[in-house]
Amino acid sequence: MPLLTGLMHRFAREQPFAGLAIAACLHVTAETAMLVRLLRVGGATVSLAASNPLSTQDDIAAALAVRYGIAVFARAGVDRPGYYRHIELALAESEKGPELVIDDGGDLVNTLHTRAVPLLANVRGGCESTTTGVIRLRRMAAEGALAFPVIAANDTPTKRMVEGTCGTGQSVIDGIMRATNTLLAGKTVVVAGFGASGRGVAERARGFGAQVIVTEIDPVRALDATLHGFRVLPMAQAAPAGEVFVTVTGSVDVIGTEHIAVMRDGAILANAGHFDAEIDVRALAGFATAVHRDVRPHVDAYDLADGRTVLLLAEGRVVNLVAAEGHPPEVMDLAFGIEALALAWLALATRPANPPGNLAPGNLAPGVHEVPEDIDAEAARLVLATMGTSIDTLTPAQLSYRESWRIGS
Ligand code: ADE
Repeated sequence: MPLLTGLMHRFAREQPFAGLAIAACLHVTAETAMLVRLLRVGGATVSLAASNPLSTQDDIAAALAVRYGIAVFARAGVDRPGYYRHIELALAESEKGPELVIDDGGDLVNTLHTRAVPLLANVRGGCESTTTGVIRLRRMAAEGALAFPVIAANDTPTKRMVEGTCGTGQSVIDGIMRATNTLLAGKTVVVAGFGASGRGVAERARGFGAQVIVTEIDPVRALDATLHGFRVLPMAQAAPAGEVFVTVTGSVDVIGTEHIAVMRDGAILANAGHFDAEIDVRALAGFATAVHRDVRPHVDAYDLADGRTVLLLAEGRVVNLVAAEGHPPEVMDLAFGIEALALAWLALATRPANPPGNLAPGNLAPGVHEVPEDIDAEAARLVLATMGTSIDTLTPAQLSYRESWRIGS
């Protein structure tokens, strides 16, 4: 992760988080460990809880705790109350509560506003890593319920581009293949949702030789998928045709028993959306006559009354993080690089000493804010440099051409 490694040298010098407590709720992976170390090198005291009950890499959690003395509250397979308890503990790690937060999905921010309200007063701002989290935060902000500024780290063009196709696309296919060892070539793969991540999954599945059907509710995305050569169908029509199903919508009940009732024997169901609500797992359990857990690691077989079986991966939770290791390090290097730079900007700008009228988040209203454009470009430039790729710059003539409206044909 060369970008984070480079930032370690810079943050060690600049100490952007000196004296600050940062509470993070992230997938506890090797890549997250690098981010946590970077924040600490930058002067922060960091506490970490998991952002999903199944995605924790226990060896990484242990290494962070034992080798680096980080307060980690995470264990793979923790139950729902334990999961929220861990978030509360991460928030309570520093006496007054954290000054900065990093969230992945919005559960930490939600906990702060519901079960840890006294700690809110100390929070200066935060960053959110996922689409799902940003959507939840915007809803909170619209209701006037969000108490501090949050940077939508998820929404930068660079992060979207790299995470969607290169990250989700590859790691979801990786999770399905590790869990099932199935051949994708020639199979019909149904991808529900054609956002940046759905597009990534659809493209990578096609790259493996699968015939890909896309389902969408958004006409623009559906048109986009059609014009890129994907067959677009409603889920009711895709259900009997598909052999592998992947939900990436951010919605709920995208696959329900009415769809499962018409699926082929042996259909594989996987979810890549942040929450485990896209496949109606509870209804599936009621619909099935028997459930065989872990027929392979992360694969549960559900027998249906007519003798068919469907296979549910990762209990309907993020398949790329449960059955594989999430986005590869190169992707998280960029994603966390942007997030770390955004957080350092926020820390500097929210210093209590900032004079009034200064365009600084110290004076920035509670709500959801974009990552400053130059941070996105800076991260892309630094990553290109680590790859040994150089790019052109505008000549003075090109610059003035670009800035003038007088020059035409
Ligand atoms: N989200 C997706 N992939 C991830 C990874 N490898 N580490 C942390 N968060 C992630």
